Amino acid sequence: MRECRFGVVGLGMMGKEFASAASRWVHLQEDIPAPKIVGVSSATEKSLEWFRRSVPGIKAFTTEYRQLLAREDIDAVYIATPHNLHRGMCLDVLRAGKHLICEKPFGIDAEANRAIVEEARKHPELLVRCASQMIFLPGARMVLEWFRERRFGRILQIKMGFKHSSDINPLKPINWKRRVETNGEYGVMGDLAPHILLMALRAGVEVEQVYADLRNIVHTRPGPDGQMVPCDTWDNALLLTRAHWGEDEFPMEVEVSRIAPGSPNDWFIEVYGMQGSIRYSTEDANAVYAAEIRGVEQVWTKYEVGYTPVYRTVTGPLGTFGFSDAILQMWAAYLDQWQRNTPKESCMTPEEARRCHEILTAALISQREGRIVRL
Ligand SMILES: NC(=O)c1ccc[n+]([C@@H]2O[C@H](COP(=O)([O-])OP(=O)(O)OC[C@H]3O[C@@H](n4cnc5c(N)ncnc54)[C@H](O)[C@@H]3O)[C@@H](O)[C@H]2O)c1
Repeated sequence: MRECRFGVVGLGMMGKEFASAASRWVHLQEDIPAPKIVGVSSATEKSLEWFRRSVPGIKAFTTEYRQLLAREDIDAVYIATPHNLHRGMCLDVLRAGKHLICEKPFGIDAEANRAIVEEARKHPELLVRCASQMIFLPGARMVLEWFRERRFGRILQIKMGFKHSSDINPLKPINWKRRVETNGEYGVMGDLAPHILLMALRAGVEVEQVYADLRNIVHTRPGPDGQMVPCDTWDNALLLTRAHWGEDEFPMEVEVSRIAPGSPNDWFIEVYGMQGSIRYSTEDANAVYAAEIRGVEQVWTKYEVGYTPVYRTVTGPLGTFGFSDAILQMWAAYLDQWQRNTPKESCMTPEEARRCHEILTAALISQREGRIVRL
């Protein structure tokens, strides 16, 4: 088994999450080689410091990411930078012959995404994936399991979403995620929607049409010097889609918000079917509620999903699963696919990322033109 030598570009929250996952690889009880971070790159010298202090064994620290691509001791690159940089960086990584995992949304818009996906097709020898960890939550796994086992009967409706309150304080200072130039025209959708749409796509749901209501609620925020500056991204988005799963056609609501009173961080999915229904939300992360029809009675059952990961870990089934556990599982899936080509669950594929962009682009057109957009 080969060593998996990584370069990391972008050393903010997600760059650090990767370093944290890599450094607790012993937590996994499976024979999957650990990622080794060989080089790191970020925009400023200051942002390199945490890695110098916290991660042993890194050989290259640079503010010029192309220096990492020139190194023969780096096989794969993880990109965790602002969305406007995804396209150029991904193309450079692939052209340098390195495996790639780039954070969602995998390009700032559909055009950037298309360029990345087309370049990836030219390099079938490289493993290319988009990072999104929520499908590795045990509750999400149970929902996917129900799709695979066809337990819903005819599907009547799906409601899904990701509700945050990260921006509920109107005086929170601006950052790159609150600007169209760096975060993209999708706004909140580029940040949160891929994490939830992947559930539908992975389950085999196809979206046919989209009607969107997008809201920019806070128009200005304090800039670096305290003066108010424009905050021009969509804060909240509600997509009413028509979708199908096999023969079943139904409405699917997708709600993503950064200003969701009462919901600090709620990733949820509800599927209603003629024979069975299921509800899962990270607000009650250990519980999945499932209803099955028993004669005239409809009985909701609470299942305690506990710590039931895709890849076994030292934590037993009665533990509680969290955000960083999902990230560790996602990385295990990436490394498993790379090294053994038999992942128990794949990370988001370029094709799945492309389909997310298709839906989000339709939402932008719908908002602009006030109409339903067919895909
Ligand atoms: N999977 C998740 O749950 C999750 C959560 C948050 C963010 N994200 C995604 O991760 C990515 C990064 O988000 P974040 O929250 O870590 O952002 P962040 O602002 O915390 O970090 C961004 C990093 O990019 C670096 N950077 C900027 N320009 C650069 C350049 N030219 N070269 C190298 N580095 C550069 C910055 O120095 C910073 O370290 C985005 O795509 C975002 O959508 C994913």
